[in-house]
Amino acid sequence: MTSPEQLIKTISIRVNGTTHDLSVRNSWSLLDIIRDNLGLTGTKKGCDEGVCGACTVIVNGKAIVSCLALGVEVDGEDILTIEGLAKGEKLDPIQQAFIDSDGMQCGFCTSGQIMSAKAFLEKNPHPTDSEVSEALSGNMCRCGCYNKIVEAILVVAKTWSR
Ligand code: FES
Ligand code: FES
Repeated sequence: MTSPEQLIKTISIRVNGTTHDLSVRNSWSLLDIIRDNLGLTGTKKGCDEGVCGACTVIVNGKAIVSCLALGVEVDGEDILTIEGLAKGEKLDPIQQAFIDSDGMQCGFCTSGQIMSAKAFLEKNPHPTDSEVSEALSGNMCRCGCYNKIVEAILVVAKTWSR
């Protein structure tokens, strides 16, 4: 008998504007597919159990932790990762603000923080500091850069445009 682990399905996902047709096992997470199949390692694997937020990507406009999403669940969906933010040499304003505000130390959590911030600002372009803190409460930073991260997002919010 074939175990569920062995089942393979072909999925089609659009990642950062490019469509990929992939053969995946039922058990593979979106995180592993992004990193291992597509080589997009800007999305980080921290806890791999939905707690740290390091693996955050945007699926159809919504920030999700990609370690908890199966590849087969996002078949046909539109996915944005940290690699999809910059336009050529020009960083996304959120990326630039993290640099300008020193919103990072080791940088391990940063891509997840930025993707959460991106989805949040699209829905709430003029937030208060407490709204920013709440929106990013699922993104851990072991370096303790929380104040600087909120500061960076508030700086971006002042000039936010879609
Ligand atoms: S690696 Fe996904 S939440 Fe930690
Ligand atoms: S900058 Fe190091 S974990 Fe956040």
